[in-house]
Formats: sequence, C-alpha cells, structure tokens
Amino acid sequence: MARLVIVSNRVASPKERAAKAGGLAVALREALSERGGLWFGWSGETEVNPPDAPKVFRSGRVTYALLTLDPEDQRAHYAGYANGTLWPLCHYRLGLLTFRRADWEGYRRVNEHFARALLPLLKPDDIVWVHDYHFIPLAAELRKLGFTGRIGYFHHIPWPTPEVYLSLPSHAALVDDLSHYDLVGLQTENDVRALLTYISSEIHGWIAPGGTVGLKDRRFRVAAYPIGIDAEAFVSDAQKSVGKDEERRLNESLAGRMLAVGVDRLDYSKGLPGKFAAFGELLRSYPEHRSKVTMMQVAPLSRSEVAEYQALRRELEELGGAINGEFAEFDWVPLRYLNRPFQRATLAAIYRRALVGVVTPLRDGMNLVAKEYIAAQDPEDPGVLVLSRFAGAADELKGSLLVNPYDIEGMAAAMDRALTMPLEERRQRWRTNMDNVETNTIHHWCQRFIDELTNVTDQFGPPGDQWGNARPQ
Ligand code: ADP
Ligand code: F6P
Repeated sequence: MARLVIVSNRVASPKERAAKAGGLAVALREALSERGGLWFGWSGETEVNPPDAPKVFRSGRVTYALLTLDPEDQRAHYAGYANGTLWPLCHYRLGLLTFRRADWEGYRRVNEHFARALLPLLKPDDIVWVHDYHFIPLAAELRKLGFTGRIGYFHHIPWPTPEVYLSLPSHAALVDDLSHYDLVGLQTENDVRALLTYISSEIHGWIAPGGTVGLKDRRFRVAAYPIGIDAEAFVSDAQKSVGKDEERRLNESLAGRMLAVGVDRLDYSKGLPGKFAAFGELLRSYPEHRSKVTMMQVAPLSRSEVAEYQALRRELEELGGAINGEFAEFDWVPLRYLNRPFQRATLAAIYRRALVGVVTPLRDGMNLVAKEYIAAQDPEDPGVLVLSRFAGAADELKGSLLVNPYDIEGMAAAMDRALTMPLEERRQRWRTNMDNVETNTIHHWCQRFIDELTNVTDQFGPPGDQWGNARPQ
C-alpha cells in the first residue's frame, strides 16, 4: 500500500493534549490514525531565518514533520492572503475581503518553502493529499521541483460562484495552481458546479463527463467528497457520558430546564450574532420559554490576530450581555457563553443533553458540529437540529429544520418548533439524519478520496504521456 502524506497548515500534534477546535484537524487525525503515514504542516512557531528542514518525530503509526516559518511570511500567508483574502471570498463576504500584493507574494513564498522542505521526505509512489486554502499552489511548486507522483487537494470550505470568485484579483493564477493536482475534492455538488462553471466560462478550460478538466496542457479531476465524522466514536463517547460526573454537573446546573446548544469557532462565517439575536427573539416572541430553556454557546477563540475576529468577539460579548440583561432571572441565566475548547467526550455529553442543536452559519463548507450533534443523541429521545441552508451539511441532513440564517424571526420560530416538537417526529427526523451520518463517515470520505486519487492518473495515462499530462521537470 502506498504511503499517505497529508499536508495541512494546522496539525493536531500528539504533544498537544487539549482538544483542537477546527474541523480539518479533527478529521485528519481520525484519517491518519488508522492508516498511518506522514503529516506535514506548520509547527505553530515563527523564527527569523527559520531552518529549511522541518522537525520530524514519530508518534504511533504517524510521522510528523513540522516546519517553522519566518514571522513576516507567516503573517502574509495566514492572516494576510489565507484568512484576509481567501476566507472571506469563499464565504461570500466580499465586504471583508482585502487583497494586498505583498500578502499574495508571501502566500506563494510559504508554499515554495513548504514544497522545498517536503520534497526530500517524499518517495515517488507516495500519495500526497494537500488540505485547504492555505496550500492551493503547493502542487505547482512540487511539480516545479520535479515531483511527478500523485497529488490531491481537498478544499474544506465553500467554493464561491463565478460572480463572487471573479472579485479575486489573482483568480486565474489560483485555478491554474489547482490544475497541477491530479484530483481536486470539494465538499458539495454546488461547489463543484461553481468551480467548473468558472473554468469553462472564464478561462477556456474544457470539462468532460465525470468532472475531468482540461486546462492548457494539463488534466485533472474535480469531484464532490462530502466530509463526515467518526460516527461510531462519537456515539460511544456520548453513551459513555451517561451517568458520569460531567453529565451530572450539567444536569444539576440546568435544574430540569431544556438546553439548546451551539458549538462554533468564533468566526464571522458562523453567524453567531444572528444566532444570539434569534435566541433573544425566541424569548421575546415566545415568552412561554422564559426560564424554561437555556442556550449554551461554546465558541473557542480563533484567528485572534485578524481584526475582524477581534471585532466579532466584542460584538458577541455585548449581544450576549444584552440578552442576559434583558431576560435573566435571579435563578436563571438564559445564555451561557464559553470561549474555551473542550475534550470530545465533554462536547458529546453537552450535545446529548441538548434538545436543540443550533447550527446557523451564514456559509460553511460542511460543518462537522451538525453531524456530531446528530451522532451524540439518545435514539429513544433525540434532539432536533436547526440547520442553516447555507451549510454544506444541509445537502445531507434532510431531517433537520432548515433555516435561512439572515431571517432572525424565522430562526426563532424554528427554535420554538424544535423545543415543542412531538417525540415521534423528533425520532423520525433524527433517524433520517443519523442514517446519513452513519453511512458517510470520515473513514468512508478518506477511503473514497484516496482510492480515486490512487487511480486517477489511469484515466489520463501516466504522467508525461501522449495525453498531454506533461509535468515540468
Ligand atoms: P470549522 O472547521 O469551520 O471549525 P466544523 O464544524 O466543520 O467547523 O468543525 C469544528 C470542529 O471543531 C468540530 O469537530 C468540533 O467538535 C470542534 N470544536 C469546536 N468547538 C470546540 C471546542 N470548544 N472544543 C473542542 N472542539 C471544538
Ligand atoms: O476548514 C476550515 C479551517 O480553516 C481549517 O483549515 C482549520 O483547521 C479550521 O478552519 C480552524 O482554523 P485555523 O486553522 O485558522 O485555526
């Protein structure tokens, strides 16, 4: 079996004991722990004149190789181009998009640096799987250095429609970069449609049935691979939480009240101000729920070095304080707002206790929290998922109450419906969702992508052949 090499900016290092917030790190840890392989990424550290080579160490079946970056390059790459340009672009927030040439250059420099450091660790038959928008140019850089093996890319966030994508000054260069991969995976069919439409209508690429794309002299494939979770592990964690100390403390603190839960990184794509406003609207317009329901919003801090994230934090503190100020009783605080990470077992216990899961991003690639919430439920007495129609998960979790996150009153009405839904309907809706979560697991996602990446070049012929799949040497 070929070795799997994963590349991602964030690496769930075994040395960090705290749970990592972020779908990518959670998903990849599951994927690699089974199969073993190499995980290459950023060390989380910066240093002027950083070493060219990564720090390498082994833990279990996984070898980790972590690279330290120059501080200015790291800023331009991460806070600058990745999170100041691509993140708002892909989440349809053009008003928040900034584009600076220096950031674009820093982004490319970091990708070059990663390619130079990775190449000596690679064997020709390795399967290299690159993750997320931090590394779109990595395959092009590895090809320049002569690597001809299989390279796949998975984009964990949405791919915007052409009208939105065209706002990016470097739009053509970035898709040209994508064409150096053999396989490009996106979360949903909508994302695939958006990218293929751009390629065929804006940059003269051609599309063959099955998602094979021809661009200049290159061939690659684009397809949807909706990511899943380790459903079995989540079910087991949730079941094990029953009767444990944390469950007991949670129950005692709720004093028999209903619980609604939200778990999101503190990110403007997650629609948190709208969610708070909708909860306030629920208490205002459906006063029968006052003192009867508590909302817990877990929102670990994220990307605090980016100004928009600092502003969002302040906004939420104000909104949360206003809701509690307006509705709290001496023995009931309506909104519990926590900015810290938790272990998976604790999250599972919280999800299981919650009658309503509120997942209302303005845009989201998939949203694993939605799937985790479903997996953690008690099948005999499951809760209801209120889910944004703009999360990738909405394509799959058809048993949810789908909402428009821009419609505050609509979200409040959906929360009311969830809180009052008869048991039989809750069970039916949950079963529909759970069938999906159990079938489309992280293992299935990983296996499907790797199998298709393993075989993808067969469809084009071997690298550098008469099919025009030539690789620069
Ligand atoms: P994103 O990738 O944008 O952060 P997802 O919903 O896809 O969003 O994934 C978030 C992941 O991070 C989930 O696996 C979730 O359990 C985890 N997570 C979120 N908040 C916390 C937290 N406070 N503590 C630990 N893990 C968290
Ligand atoms: O897929 C979304 C994502 O950007 C992942 O790449 C990342 O692991 C997660 O969100 C958390 O973001 P960050 O790595 O910037 O903390």
